[in-house]
Amino acid sequence: MSINLDKQVNRDILLWDNIADESEKSVLSGHPDIIAYENFEEQLLDKILMELTEKGNKPIKLVDICTGAGRIPEHYHNKIMNEEFPFNLNHIHGIDISKRALEMAESKLSGMDEDIVKRLNMTFELGSAFDLKEENDLSIPILVNLNNSIGTLQGYEGAQQLFISMRKAVEKANGIGIISCYSNNYIEDYALNIYESAMQVTGQPQWLEPTNYTSSEYKMLPKELKAFGNLSKDTYCDIYDQNGLLAEEDYKLTRAPTKVRAVNITGNIKTYRGYSSMWYSPLIINQWINSHWNGCKTYYIETKDLDEKLAPFGQLAILDCGNHLNNIF
Ligand SMILES: C[S@@+](CC[C@H](N)C(=O)[O-])C[C@H]1O[C@@H](n2cnc3c(N)ncnc32)[C@H](O)[C@@H]1O
Repeated sequence: MSINLDKQVNRDILLWDNIADESEKSVLSGHPDIIAYENFEEQLLDKILMELTEKGNKPIKLVDICTGAGRIPEHYHNKIMNEEFPFNLNHIHGIDISKRALEMAESKLSGMDEDIVKRLNMTFELGSAFDLKEENDLSIPILVNLNNSIGTLQGYEGAQQLFISMRKAVEKANGIGIISCYSNNYIEDYALNIYESAMQVTGQPQWLEPTNYTSSEYKMLPKELKAFGNLSKDTYCDIYDQNGLLAEEDYKLTRAPTKVRAVNITGNIKTYRGYSSMWYSPLIINQWINSHWNGCKTYYIETKDLDEKLAPFGQLAILDCGNHLNNIF
């Protein structure tokens, strides 16, 4: 790993430790477009687990890279609770660089049924997506990186490191790698509204003006959740100071057209709090599939082709070293 990437990882550990709680509350379990996309991902994973269970005689190990607060482990716990679990899945492992995110994941574990946690052998690891361990072939490893986590992985260098380390981890064991991310073709319809609804978590997006309250002294609380179909270029929020006192009510922010254009072109979401996320282009994801996963069976899929309603704005890069998925894609 380069020194620069190392530095960025250290900076992002602090950032994610700070925003993990709010991010879970207001974005990942709060925004309707994201919740729909998460449902899509969970249904797709179920389908893949079913296919492997029916076809194979090996148990499946699921590794959730950038697990955050442990949505995926929780999903499978709940499936067993609801008696909807026909899968031969015997290990779920979550990895994340944020201690706070893992604390949240582990506190979910403590509220779960102990026998189910044992049956699924749920484990968590404080670690980086760039240092994945090589999996053995006692099980079929499925490594996933979901919900545009690749977009938060320290820029182009980090994103490519993910492709490289995923391949290293699954190739010998004939496993599967799945990267599920958002596409820069949908910035205008989805991204702008999502980040304008999450200013209390990530801060004021750089395409919004004016910039009177961008310093960390203030907290901005958007007045509404803007989702797909909301065409307003304005966002209203209440501003609170460090003591939690209301500094300004119904503060109006408006999109600056030139800045919106730049986000559309680069796919780079940036806020005044140092948060940065990429919505990568289909072109670049295809390039990375071809350069980092060459020689292996791979798929590139726009998620709207699988489920236009739940996942209109995403894309999948899939590495299928054991040719397990040809009945699905
Ligand atoms: C979008 S959130 C995760 C959402 C989660 N995958 C889900 O689907 O609910 C991104 C996560 O990536 C983690 N992260 C960022 N850089 C990382 C790295 N280099 N290695 C591992 N985790 C990282 C952050 O700590 C954060 O929890």
